[in-house]
Order: sequence, then C-alpha cells, then structure tokens
Amino acid sequence: MFKKNDPIGIFDSGLGGLTVFRAVRRLMPSENLIYFGDTARVPYGAKSKEAVVSFSKEIAALLSDRGVKLLIVACNTASSLALEEVRKISNAPVIGVIEPGARAACAATVNNRVLVTGTTATVSSGAYSRALKKLNPGLVVHEKECPLFVPLVEEGWCAKKVTELVAAEYLAPFKKKGFDTVILGCTHYPLLKKVIRRVMGTVKIVDSAEVTAEEARANLVSRNLLNPGGLGRASFIASDAPEKFGILARRLLGIRTGRVEVKRF
Ligand code: DGL
Repeated sequence: MFKKNDPIGIFDSGLGGLTVFRAVRRLMPSENLIYFGDTARVPYGAKSKEAVVSFSKEIAALLSDRGVKLLIVACNTASSLALEEVRKISNAPVIGVIEPGARAACAATVNNRVLVTGTTATVSSGAYSRALKKLNPGLVVHEKECPLFVPLVEEGWCAKKVTELVAAEYLAPFKKKGFDTVILGCTHYPLLKKVIRRVMGTVKIVDSAEVTAEEARANLVSRNLLNPGGLGRASFIASDAPEKFGILARRLLGIRTGRVEVKRF
C-alpha cells in the first residue's frame, strides 16, 4: 500500500528531533521527509504521561493522514511514554529512539557503567534502564534528569555561560563516579554536546540520531520502500511560532526549512 516516494514522518516536541532529521537526511538524501515540531506544547518532559500520549497520538494521526510510509518518534519522552499507543493508531511502522540509543551505548561502554541524561518524564519512566539491562544485565545504569536543558535549547542558548553553569550543576557530581559512557537521552541534548563534554571530560557521549537513521533505513530496505535517486523534499510543520522554528533550525543545525507550515490542534 505504500509507495517508495511516500514521505518519512519525524516528530518531536520542538527542535530536538531535528538532530534525528539531519541524520536521516544524511543517510538517505533521496527520501521525502515531513518534520513536525510541537512548539506550542514544548517541553513534553515536564508533563504527565496522559498529556504526552495524547499529544503524540494527535501528531501521529496527522502524519498518517499525510501518507507517511514510516514514522520516527524523534523524541525520547514520547518514545518512553507513548510508543505503544502511537503504534496502535499509525498506518505506518513506528520507530522510537530509546532502543537504538541503548544499543549504541552498550556497544560504546567498556567498563559497563552508563549514565543516562534525559527529561524528567523519560527518567521517571525507567525506559532506558529497562532497554539497557535487557541488552546487558550486567550494566550499572544511573539516570539523571536535566529539565532545564530543553528550554535552554528552544531559546537557542546552546553556547551561553548560563547553560554551562546549569550543565555543571546537573552533571559535575557524576564526573568522578566512573561512568565511561553518557547517553544523551533527549534529542535536544546533542545541541549541548560541547557544553556536556566540557563538564564530563573524556567520556563517550552517545546520541541516538545516527543509529535511529540506520534502523529507519533497514526498515525501508526490508520493505523494499527505499526511494531511489534524486534529492528528496523536506517539509516542516510547527504547532506555533513557525518563524522562530525556522530561524533556530538554521542557526543551531544549519537546516534551511523554507516556509514552515503551522498546524494548531
Ligand atoms: N526532545 C524531546 C526528548 O527527546 C523532548 C523534550 C521535551 O520536550 O521536554 O525527550
């Protein structure tokens, strides 16, 4: 029922999922992509499971209506809390970011000590600990919520002094605890990688963007739905403040969005 030139849908609460969008674009430049940023309701990480499930289902329904052949939930919070519900209503197969991130961390750690950073909702869900321990029951995992990171990124303050102070407040206590791998368990956090690296020193920093893009590719290959040749189209939808979304996408990620459509729920 799907065609090769049908788009891939990608969504997040805001800008963070663009880190996944960028990885998908690099790996599969011929694919047509539709990105949805729920800028009216960001951040998801401070909200209840009921709210995140309901927002995610609304977006999944919208992207299903646009005929996506694959849906990527490019948000750890929605992947932790709403993946099963989204699967129930999506016409297309659904990929989240937790499992790919957990796999990448398992491959990266040498001493089996992994620190997971994420939103309050992701950390409280324990989704990363479950996914990691399923892959390697011998891992020592600690999860640390960093709730101010998402608003700082959405403000475009990735390189400000205040952001470094916040990162140090959250993460400096873990520097000497022997974690050799840190998971950026929120798709906004790769935009703070330099700041996090300065606080944490020489740890391995894992984000799920590339591994998720690889999983998306494998899914399309297995269904014989990879789009051949040419440069695919990319379109962007935001639930509020489309100009700000476009400006920050370009400034923080070098993504030229063109006109951003607005869709209010
Ligand atoms: N970027 C999202 C995540 O990966 C959402 C963060 C938020 O909206 O709080 O968790």
